[in-house]
Amino acid sequence: MSQHLIAPSLLSADFANLGKDIEMVNNSEADWFHVDVMDGEFVPNISFGMPVIKAISKHACKPLDVHLMIVKPERYFEAFRDCGANILSVHIEAVPHLHRAMQQIKSLGMKAGVVLNPHTQINLLEDIITDVDLVLLMSVNPGFGGQKFIEQTYDRIMRLSKLIKSKKSSALIEIDGGVDLNNASLLIAAGANVLVAGNTVFGSTDPMNTIKLLKHIK
Ligand code: DX5
Ligand code: ZN
Repeated sequence: MSQHLIAPSLLSADFANLGKDIEMVNNSEADWFHVDVMDGEFVPNISFGMPVIKAISKHACKPLDVHLMIVKPERYFEAFRDCGANILSVHIEAVPHLHRAMQQIKSLGMKAGVVLNPHTQINLLEDIITDVDLVLLMSVNPGFGGQKFIEQTYDRIMRLSKLIKSKKSSALIEIDGGVDLNNASLLIAAGANVLVAGNTVFGSTDPMNTIKLLKHIK
């Protein structure tokens, strides 16, 4: 892949002015909108659900990359598709039948992603890697924006990248949590294809320029 993608996480956007932040991302060099759904059970926090995503999708001109941090996510695959999800990712820790989940997501016309918590072994993906479009590695414990990046992530990316190549998979590697202007180039060098950034983008004084800086990092 020639260039990495940037996915600003709307979790750190201004919810009272969501339209304005969506417009900023539309006009920026960002590639996707990262949309975090939390249920207060799989993770200790609750974010937002379908009505908000539907509203986002009406204004977003770029793909919605929906990250489900919920138990039994398969209950809602169709509902997320209907409210505008283009890429739908589920946690491996939340689904007993991952292969089925990936097939269901794809059959609904979306790209299928699997997410791994920071402690979850990369080699669990050995027999599924050719069936997924994307692997999202959590580089913080899921549930909150603005947390400290876990350094072990670099090694995990390298091991995942090796696995993807050895199985001739076309899966993209996405990194989520604590991504900033200092670690972005190391993440890309390790093999990351997509960088999620919440606090780094929306907590900056010039979010559009921060996206540009992340996008042009080598
Ligand atoms: C955390 C979410 C992230 C979060 C990242 O559970 O999955 O997408 O928004 O936020 P930052 O980039 O601030 O760590
Ligand atoms: Zn996320």
